[in-house]
Amino acid sequence: MATIPLSWSAAPTVRLPQRQRSFTAKPPRFIGHDFAVSCSHTNHGQDHRRHEPEKVESSAGKMDRRNVLLGMGGLYGAASVVQSDSAAIAAPIHSPDFTKCTRGTNLNTQKPLDVDCCPPLSTEIVDYKLPPVQKLRIRPAAQLAGKEYYAKFEKAIALMKALPADDPRNFMQQANVHCAYCNLTYEQAGDAKQKLQIHNCWHFFPWHRWYLYFYERILAKLIDDPTFALPFWNWDQPDGMVMPQPFANKDSPLYDARRNQAHLPPALLDLAYSAKSPTKPNKIVPNNLTVMYGEMVRNVKKLDDFYGAKYVTGTAPNPGPGTVERGSHIAAHAWTGEATPSGEDMGNFYSTARDTIFYAHHANVDRLWTIWRGLRGTKPKDYTEADWLEADFLFYDENAQLVRVTVKDTLENEKMGYVYQEVDLPWLKNRPAPRVKNSKVAETSGAPAAETVFPVKLDKVVKVLVTRPKKSRSKNDKEKEEELLVIEGIEVDTAKFVRFDVFVNDEDDKPDELDKAEYAGCFSQIPHKNSINIKTQIRLGLTELLEDLGADDDDKVLVSLVPKDGGEDISIGGIKIIYA
Ligand code: C2O
Repeated sequence: MATIPLSWSAAPTVRLPQRQRSFTAKPPRFIGHDFAVSCSHTNHGQDHRRHEPEKVESSAGKMDRRNVLLGMGGLYGAASVVQSDSAAIAAPIHSPDFTKCTRGTNLNTQKPLDVDCCPPLSTEIVDYKLPPVQKLRIRPAAQLAGKEYYAKFEKAIALMKALPADDPRNFMQQANVHCAYCNLTYEQAGDAKQKLQIHNCWHFFPWHRWYLYFYERILAKLIDDPTFALPFWNWDQPDGMVMPQPFANKDSPLYDARRNQAHLPPALLDLAYSAKSPTKPNKIVPNNLTVMYGEMVRNVKKLDDFYGAKYVTGTAPNPGPGTVERGSHIAAHAWTGEATPSGEDMGNFYSTARDTIFYAHHANVDRLWTIWRGLRGTKPKDYTEADWLEADFLFYDENAQLVRVTVKDTLENEKMGYVYQEVDLPWLKNRPAPRVKNSKVAETSGAPAAETVFPVKLDKVVKVLVTRPKKSRSKNDKEKEEELLVIEGIEVDTAKFVRFDVFVNDEDDKPDELDKAEYAGCFSQIPHKNSINIKTQIRLGLTELLEDLGADDDDKVLVSLVPKDGGEDISIGGIKIIYA
């Protein structure tokens, strides 16, 4: 293969033998004000954290693990955990130690993994400083970018593929970055007993923002064009709800053969994709727009519901995904990947970034983050906790320098030197109408009370009545506190593609009709190679939904859990309504 006609000012990268530990991850840093128990962040992702107290070793010496957990989740499960007098300690997630990256064994099957995505080692880590912005890069909508743009993009990808295999900027090495951070390859710095997983938690948006940032800069450098910007797959509006054509051209470097062949253009992207019960073609666009409205407006009054659940040192992987992550984002992954149970490339976390469309997909996810922050107005847009802001990760930059980056530097994309082309947001005002208003369905339903049903396996539709602790709340109360349906103790094997949908006060069971107010949201995940059984939870906003259904004065709601894929592999621990 030809060498690259570029003068890289690359710092030398050395692959060290494992025993030569010239590189150690920073010890956990304990930030002063985190020594207090934080109550500002309760309820989300609580039950799975009910570990037995045990001693853990840290740079702060031995401490009671229970206190670590208290500090990160707030006063959860007050009945099951006695608060200790000593100060509780939490610590943000820190960069993994690359020397301890293991190809490892599947944690469920104990079989060795047939994939090794550990990164090259480096002798030096630099704390990354965002360079001053000279000229903003503008990320274009993939369906609007022209021939000239794609010629550049294709050239950059071809050059990236032609880099030496052990160059951390090489195409496969870049794909492996994603694999390593999501395939339970690293230990958590600070708690070697826990594996690191940056998905299904509040680091989903920031981590991927950094990942795309360096990917884009590497491509820009390869074609020596500092204005080069990744395209975004604009799947939240009808023009973009199809695979962008240039990615589907067989002779393009953007092409990937490992995709669902039935989903090449002009197939419509289904943002509620289910392999077993796909949406009828004429329902895809209306469903998609309602899904987007739910994920971006209706269901995300609280930070946790957009970002995902709190995740700090000591947290077990997958505490809980936010709306976009578990919904449209997962659907586009699963829809694009091969029509096989393991779904390569896009439909499986270890292989997903081997498909060039991954980066266009995630540019849209990243764009939605920017839009959501913009929609917040004067409401809080970000967590102020050091546990989030001070979390750090490692990436190789465009000079092959290993750099340490923090969450706090990701909040404003302009400061990172890029913006998005502006396009319509047809979902923004797409508040769905009820199928039936003022139904007495909860009152007259013969469904059992939730308390009598759980835990339950989701191998069939489960319908339960859930009691509302409060009803007929004032406008003021509603603004202060969102009513949330919490589906907790969701146990799944992460090797499986699963999806279930949730409906409230729905009489007629039309699981294909997501464009009605009765649709509350979904849980979905794509497979991982290194699988474990996880216990996670989701929260679904009820305030607007119940208003729209004319059910605000009802004592109970009827909840239907409708399995779409892998229901036999899902069990649910419980359902309740909370106010947060
Ligand atoms: Cu890191 Cu779309 O997943």
